[in-house]
Amino acid sequence: MHALEIHGLGKTYNNGKTALQDVNLTVPQGSFFALLGPNGAGKSTMINVLADTVRPTAGNVSLFGRDLFNDRAWCKKRMGVVPQEIAFDPFFTPREVLRFTSGLFGCKPDEAWIDELFERLELTEHSKKNTRQLSGGMRRRLLVAQALVHRPELVILDEPTAGVDVELRRRLWDFMRELNNKGITILLTTHYLDEAEELCDQVAIIDQGNLLTAQPMQQLMQSVASSYLWLNYAKPVTLNETDKLALATYEPRSSEEGLCLKLGRLDDGNSTFHQAYEAAVARFGPPVDAGVRSEDLEDVFLRLTARHGAKA
Ligand SMILES: Nc1ncnc2c1ncn2[C@@H]1O[C@H](COP(=O)(O)OP(=O)(O)O)[C@@H](O)[C@H]1O
Ligand SMILES: [Mg+2]
Repeated sequence: MHALEIHGLGKTYNNGKTALQDVNLTVPQGSFFALLGPNGAGKSTMINVLADTVRPTAGNVSLFGRDLFNDRAWCKKRMGVVPQEIAFDPFFTPREVLRFTSGLFGCKPDEAWIDELFERLELTEHSKKNTRQLSGGMRRRLLVAQALVHRPELVILDEPTAGVDVELRRRLWDFMRELNNKGITILLTTHYLDEAEELCDQVAIIDQGNLLTAQPMQQLMQSVASSYLWLNYAKPVTLNETDKLALATYEPRSSEEGLCLKLGRLDDGNSTFHQAYEAAVARFGPPVDAGVRSEDLEDVFLRLTARHGAKA
Protein backbone atom coordinates (compact mmCIF):
# COMPACT_ATOMS: atom_id res chain seq x y z
CA MET A 1 0.00 0.00 0.00
CA HIS A 2 1.15 3.53 -0.73
CA ALA A 3 0.85 6.58 1.49
CA LEU A 4 -0.31 8.56 -1.54
CA GLU A 5 -1.29 7.71 -5.07
CA ILE A 6 -1.93 10.73 -7.22
CA HIS A 7 -3.48 10.21 -10.65
CA GLY A 8 -3.93 12.83 -13.34
CA LEU A 9 -4.00 15.67 -10.85
CA GLY A 10 -4.73 19.06 -12.42
CA LYS A 11 -5.48 22.50 -11.09
CA THR A 12 -6.40 25.57 -13.06
CA TYR A 13 -7.16 28.57 -10.86
CA ASN A 14 -10.11 30.84 -11.57
CA ASN A 15 -7.79 33.39 -13.18
CA GLY A 16 -6.91 30.81 -15.84
CA LYS A 17 -3.51 29.95 -14.37
CA THR A 18 -2.75 26.24 -14.66
CA ALA A 19 -0.69 25.31 -11.62
CA LEU A 20 -0.76 21.51 -12.05
CA GLN A 21 -1.11 19.45 -15.18
CA ASP A 22 -1.82 15.72 -15.23
CA VAL A 23 0.49 14.91 -12.33
CA ASN A 24 0.96 11.23 -11.53
CA LEU A 25 2.89 10.50 -8.39
CA THR A 26 3.26 7.72 -5.86
CA VAL A 27 4.58 8.30 -2.36
CA PRO A 28 5.60 4.95 -0.85
CA GLN A 29 4.55 4.29 2.71
CA GLY A 30 7.42 4.94 5.11
CA SER A 31 9.35 7.08 2.65
CA PHE A 32 10.99 10.43 3.28
CA PHE A 33 9.90 12.21 0.15
CA ALA A 34 11.19 15.50 -1.31
CA LEU A 35 8.87 17.44 -3.59
CA LEU A 36 11.11 19.94 -5.33
CA GLY A 37 10.61 22.66 -7.89
CA PRO A 38 11.40 26.29 -8.60
CA ASN A 39 9.12 29.06 -7.28
CA GLY A 40 5.71 28.85 -8.87
CA ALA A 41 6.19 25.19 -9.90
CA GLY A 42 2.95 24.11 -8.23
CA LYS A 43 4.27 22.51 -5.03
CA SER A 44 2.03 24.44 -2.65
CA THR A 45 -0.93 23.93 -4.94
CA MET A 46 -0.40 20.17 -4.73
CA ILE A 47 -0.02 20.25 -0.97
CA ASN A 48 -3.07 22.48 -0.58
CA VAL A 49 -5.08 20.02 -2.65
CA LEU A 50 -4.00 17.28 -0.25
CA ALA A 51 -4.86 19.52 2.71
CA ASP A 52 -8.29 20.27 1.27
CA THR A 53 -7.74 24.02 0.98
CA VAL A 54 -7.56 23.99 -2.84
CA ARG A 55 -10.05 22.14 -5.00
CA PRO A 56 -8.45 20.27 -7.91
CA THR A 57 -9.88 20.57 -11.42
CA ALA A 58 -8.86 17.05 -12.45
CA GLY A 59 -7.58 13.79 -11.07
CA ASN A 60 -7.89 11.67 -8.00
CA VAL A 61 -5.81 10.87 -4.97
CA SER A 62 -5.81 7.93 -2.63
CA LEU A 63 -4.29 8.02 0.82
CA PHE A 64 -3.36 4.69 2.41
CA GLY A 65 -5.74 3.09 -0.07
CA ARG A 66 -8.76 5.34 0.60
CA ASP A 67 -10.16 7.97 -1.72
CA LEU A 68 -9.05 11.36 -0.45
CA PHE A 69 -12.03 13.27 -1.80
CA ASN A 70 -14.73 10.78 -0.81
CA ASP A 71 -13.25 9.70 2.47
CA ARG A 72 -12.09 13.06 3.80
CA ALA A 73 -12.76 12.47 7.49
CA TRP A 74 -10.83 9.19 7.53
CA CYS A 75 -7.95 10.69 5.54
CA LYS A 76 -7.70 13.91 7.54
CA LYS A 77 -7.08 11.99 10.75
CA ARG A 78 -4.14 10.24 9.14
CA MET A 79 -2.31 13.24 7.80
CA GLY A 80 -0.81 16.37 9.27
CA VAL A 81 -0.07 19.30 7.00
CA VAL A 82 2.23 22.23 7.64
CA PRO A 83 1.14 24.89 5.15
CA GLN A 84 3.53 27.45 3.70
CA GLU A 85 1.44 30.40 4.87
CA ILE A 86 1.21 31.03 8.59
CA ALA A 87 -2.09 32.04 10.16
CA PHE A 88 -3.04 31.74 13.81
CA ASP A 89 -5.74 33.20 15.93
CA PRO A 90 -3.63 35.75 17.85
CA PHE A 91 -5.60 35.40 21.07
CA PHE A 92 -4.65 31.79 21.76
CA THR A 93 -1.53 30.50 23.44
CA PRO A 94 0.41 27.72 21.70
CA ARG A 95 -0.93 25.19 24.21
CA GLU A 96 -4.50 26.27 23.52
CA VAL A 97 -3.83 26.01 19.78
CA LEU A 98 -2.69 22.41 20.17
CA ARG A 99 -5.57 21.46 22.47
CA PHE A 100 -8.05 23.02 20.10
CA THR A 101 -6.49 21.26 17.10
CA SER A 102 -6.71 17.91 18.91
CA GLY A 103 -10.42 18.58 19.34
CA LEU A 104 -10.81 19.24 15.63
CA PHE A 105 -9.45 15.77 14.96
CA GLY A 106 -11.82 14.30 17.48
CA CYS A 107 -9.09 13.40 19.98
CA LYS A 108 -8.78 14.30 23.60
CA PRO A 109 -5.65 16.46 23.98
CA ASP A 110 -2.68 14.23 24.80
CA GLU A 111 -0.88 16.56 27.23
CA ALA A 112 2.24 14.38 27.45
CA TRP A 113 2.59 14.38 23.67
CA ILE A 114 1.93 18.14 23.56
CA ASP A 115 4.70 18.65 26.15
CA GLU A 116 7.02 16.50 24.06
CA LEU A 117 6.19 18.47 20.92
CA PHE A 118 6.95 21.75 22.70
CA GLU A 119 10.18 20.27 23.98
CA ARG A 120 11.31 18.93 20.58
CA LEU A 121 10.31 22.08 18.73
CA GLU A 122 11.82 24.33 21.39
CA LEU A 123 8.60 26.06 22.28
CA THR A 124 8.30 25.05 25.94
CA GLU A 125 9.17 28.47 27.32
CA HIS A 126 6.80 30.12 24.86
CA SER A 127 3.84 27.83 25.36
CA LYS A 128 1.93 30.28 27.54
CA LYS A 129 2.47 33.38 25.40
CA ASN A 130 -0.05 34.72 22.95
CA THR A 131 0.75 33.46 19.48
CA ARG A 132 1.01 37.06 18.27
CA GLN A 133 4.04 37.46 20.57
CA LEU A 134 5.89 34.66 18.80
CA SER A 135 8.55 35.30 16.17
CA GLY A 136 8.10 34.02 12.61
CA GLY A 137 10.36 31.05 13.29
CA MET A 138 8.44 30.13 16.46
CA ARG A 139 5.11 30.34 14.65
CA ARG A 140 6.41 28.03 11.99
CA ARG A 141 7.47 25.53 14.65
CA LEU A 142 4.06 25.83 16.26
CA LEU A 143 2.59 25.03 12.86
CA VAL A 144 4.71 21.85 12.82
CA ALA A 145 3.51 20.95 16.32
CA GLN A 146 -0.07 21.54 15.21
CA ALA A 147 0.37 19.16 12.27
CA LEU A 148 1.72 16.44 14.58
CA VAL A 149 -0.65 16.77 17.53
CA HIS A 150 -3.01 13.98 16.38
CA ARG A 151 -0.11 11.61 15.57
CA PRO A 152 -0.64 11.39 11.81
CA GLU A 153 0.83 8.58 9.71
CA LEU A 154 1.64 10.97 6.87
CA VAL A 155 3.25 14.35 7.58
CA ILE A 156 3.36 16.94 4.82
CA LEU A 157 5.55 20.01 5.26
CA ASP A 158 5.53 22.95 2.84
CA GLU A 159 8.82 24.83 3.32
CA PRO A 160 8.89 24.19 7.07
CA THR A 161 12.35 25.70 7.44
CA ALA A 162 11.93 28.91 5.46
CA GLY A 163 13.46 31.62 7.65
CA VAL A 164 14.55 29.14 10.34
CA ASP A 165 18.22 29.32 11.34
CA VAL A 166 20.68 26.49 10.67
CA GLU A 167 20.75 25.02 14.19
CA LEU A 168 16.97 24.86 14.53
CA ARG A 169 16.66 23.53 11.01
CA ARG A 170 19.00 20.71 11.85
CA ARG A 171 17.07 19.84 15.00
CA LEU A 172 13.76 19.95 13.14
CA TRP A 173 15.15 17.56 10.50
CA ASP A 174 16.48 15.26 13.25
CA PHE A 175 12.98 15.13 14.70
CA MET A 176 11.46 14.37 11.29
CA ARG A 177 14.05 11.65 10.76
CA GLU A 178 13.10 10.09 14.09
CA LEU A 179 9.42 10.10 13.14
CA ASN A 180 10.32 8.58 9.79
CA ASN A 181 12.33 5.84 11.54
CA LYS A 182 9.14 4.99 13.44
CA GLY A 183 7.41 4.38 10.12
CA ILE A 184 5.76 7.76 9.55
CA THR A 185 5.77 8.89 5.93
CA ILE A 186 7.17 12.38 5.41
CA LEU A 187 6.60 14.54 2.34
CA LEU A 188 8.29 17.92 2.25
CA THR A 189 9.17 20.80 0.02
CA THR A 190 12.29 22.83 0.63
CA HIS A 191 14.69 25.15 -1.11
CA TYR A 192 17.63 23.62 0.73
CA LEU A 193 18.56 20.99 -1.81
CA ASP A 194 21.62 19.81 0.09
CA GLU A 195 19.40 19.03 3.05
CA ALA A 196 16.84 17.29 0.85
CA GLU A 197 19.58 15.15 -0.67
CA GLU A 198 20.84 14.13 2.73
CA LEU A 199 17.45 13.46 4.29
CA CYS A 200 15.15 12.10 1.64
CA ASP A 201 15.07 8.67 0.04
CA GLN A 202 12.59 9.66 -2.68
CA VAL A 203 12.49 12.74 -4.85
CA ALA A 204 10.09 14.33 -7.32
CA ILE A 205 10.82 17.45 -9.32
CA ILE A 206 8.04 19.57 -10.77
CA ASP A 207 8.28 22.63 -12.96
CA GLN A 208 5.48 24.78 -14.35
CA GLY A 209 2.89 22.30 -13.13
CA ASN A 210 4.51 19.30 -14.82
CA LEU A 211 6.22 16.40 -13.12
CA LEU A 212 9.75 16.11 -14.53
CA THR A 213 10.90 13.09 -12.58
CA ALA A 214 9.99 10.98 -9.56
CA GLN A 215 12.25 8.22 -8.31
CA PRO A 216 14.38 7.03 -5.43
CA MET A 217 16.98 9.69 -4.60
CA GLN A 218 19.89 7.31 -5.04
CA GLN A 219 18.60 6.16 -8.40
CA LEU A 220 18.22 9.75 -9.64
CA MET A 221 21.73 10.63 -8.53
CA GLN A 222 23.18 7.51 -10.13
CA SER A 223 21.35 7.88 -13.41
CA VAL A 224 21.57 11.63 -13.93
CA ALA A 225 24.45 13.04 -11.89
CA SER A 226 27.83 13.12 -13.63
CA SER A 227 31.23 13.34 -12.05
CA TYR A 228 34.21 15.30 -13.26
CA LEU A 229 37.95 14.77 -12.96
CA TRP A 230 39.87 17.98 -12.30
CA LEU A 231 43.58 18.09 -13.04
CA ASN A 232 45.51 21.13 -11.92
CA TYR A 233 48.73 22.07 -13.68
CA ALA A 234 51.29 24.72 -12.83
CA LYS A 235 50.62 26.44 -16.14
CA PRO A 236 47.25 26.91 -17.90
CA VAL A 237 46.42 24.05 -20.25
CA THR A 238 45.67 24.78 -23.90
CA LEU A 239 43.84 22.12 -25.85
CA ASN A 240 44.94 21.81 -29.47
CA GLU A 241 42.98 19.84 -32.06
CA THR A 242 44.90 16.62 -31.40
CA ASP A 243 44.26 16.91 -27.65
CA LYS A 244 40.57 17.54 -28.22
CA LEU A 245 40.35 14.49 -30.45
CA ALA A 246 42.28 12.24 -28.07
CA LEU A 247 40.16 13.27 -25.08
CA ALA A 248 36.87 13.65 -26.97
CA THR A 249 34.99 11.04 -24.90
CA TYR A 250 35.63 13.15 -21.78
CA GLU A 251 34.31 16.41 -23.24
CA PRO A 252 37.50 18.19 -22.11
CA ARG A 253 37.44 21.77 -20.90
CA SER A 254 40.47 23.82 -20.01
CA SER A 255 40.59 26.72 -17.62
CA GLU A 256 43.06 28.79 -15.60
CA GLU A 257 43.31 26.00 -13.04
CA GLY A 258 43.85 23.23 -15.49
CA LEU A 259 41.82 20.57 -17.16
CA CYS A 260 38.36 19.18 -16.49
CA LEU A 261 37.25 15.81 -17.86
CA LYS A 262 33.72 14.48 -17.65
CA LEU A 263 33.63 10.97 -16.24
CA GLY A 264 30.12 10.08 -17.14
CA ARG A 265 27.61 8.87 -14.64
CA LEU A 266 28.41 7.71 -11.15
CA ASP A 267 27.39 4.12 -11.82
CA ASP A 268 30.09 3.75 -14.48
CA GLY A 269 32.49 2.71 -11.76
CA ASN A 270 36.16 3.45 -11.36
CA SER A 271 37.58 2.42 -14.71
CA THR A 272 36.73 5.72 -16.42
CA PHE A 273 38.51 7.59 -13.67
CA HIS A 274 41.79 5.77 -14.28
CA GLN A 275 41.43 5.86 -18.05
CA ALA A 276 40.72 9.60 -18.01
CA TYR A 277 43.62 10.24 -15.66
CA GLU A 278 46.03 8.21 -17.81
CA ALA A 279 44.79 9.90 -20.97
CA ALA A 280 45.42 13.34 -19.46
CA VAL A 281 48.88 12.36 -18.16
CA ALA A 282 49.80 10.97 -21.57
CA ARG A 283 49.20 14.38 -23.12
CA PHE A 284 50.10 16.87 -20.38
CA GLY A 285 52.21 14.97 -17.89
CA PRO A 286 51.41 14.41 -14.20
CA PRO A 287 49.25 17.15 -12.66
CA VAL A 288 50.14 19.08 -9.51
CA ASP A 289 46.75 18.15 -8.09
CA ALA A 290 43.79 16.08 -9.16
CA GLY A 291 40.37 15.38 -7.77
CA VAL A 292 36.92 14.17 -8.62
CA ARG A 293 33.86 16.33 -8.15
CA SER A 294 30.43 14.77 -8.43
CA GLU A 295 27.29 16.65 -9.26
CA ASP A 296 24.95 17.02 -6.34
CA LEU A 297 21.19 17.27 -6.23
CA GLU A 298 21.35 21.02 -6.83
CA ASP A 299 23.34 20.51 -10.06
CA VAL A 300 20.88 17.86 -11.23
CA PHE A 301 17.91 20.02 -10.27
CA LEU A 302 19.27 23.04 -12.14
CA ARG A 303 20.02 20.95 -15.21
CA LEU A 304 16.55 19.33 -15.32
CA THR A 305 14.61 22.52 -14.69
CA ALA A 306 16.75 24.59 -17.09
CA ARG A 307 16.16 22.08 -19.86
CA HIS A 308 12.44 22.10 -19.18
CA GLY A 309 12.35 25.91 -19.03
CA ALA A 310 14.16 26.16 -22.37
CA LYS A 311 11.59 23.88 -23.99
CA ALA A 312 8.59 25.77 -22.64
N1 LIG B 1 -4.95 31.30 -5.46
C1 LIG B 1 -4.32 31.40 -6.63
N2 LIG B 1 -4.92 31.98 -7.69
C2 LIG B 1 -4.29 32.07 -8.87
N3 LIG B 1 -3.07 31.59 -9.13
C3 LIG B 1 -2.41 31.00 -8.11
C4 LIG B 1 -2.99 30.87 -6.82
N4 LIG B 1 -2.12 30.22 -6.02
C5 LIG B 1 -1.04 29.97 -6.78
N5 LIG B 1 -1.20 30.44 -8.04
C6 LIG B 1 -0.25 30.31 -9.16
O1 LIG B 1 -0.05 28.93 -9.41
C7 LIG B 1 1.32 28.67 -9.71
C8 LIG B 1 1.88 27.66 -8.73
O2 LIG B 1 1.97 28.27 -7.45
P1 LIG B 1 2.40 27.47 -6.16
O3 LIG B 1 1.63 26.20 -6.09
O4 LIG B 1 2.30 28.39 -5.01
O5 LIG B 1 3.93 27.13 -6.50
P2 LIG B 1 5.16 26.76 -5.54
O6 LIG B 1 4.63 26.39 -4.20
O7 LIG B 1 5.84 25.62 -6.24
O8 LIG B 1 6.04 27.97 -5.49
C9 LIG B 1 2.02 30.01 -9.68
O9 LIG B 1 2.08 30.51 -10.99
C10 LIG B 1 1.11 30.85 -8.82
O10 LIG B 1 1.22 32.21 -9.16
MG1 LIG C 1 5.03 27.13 -2.33
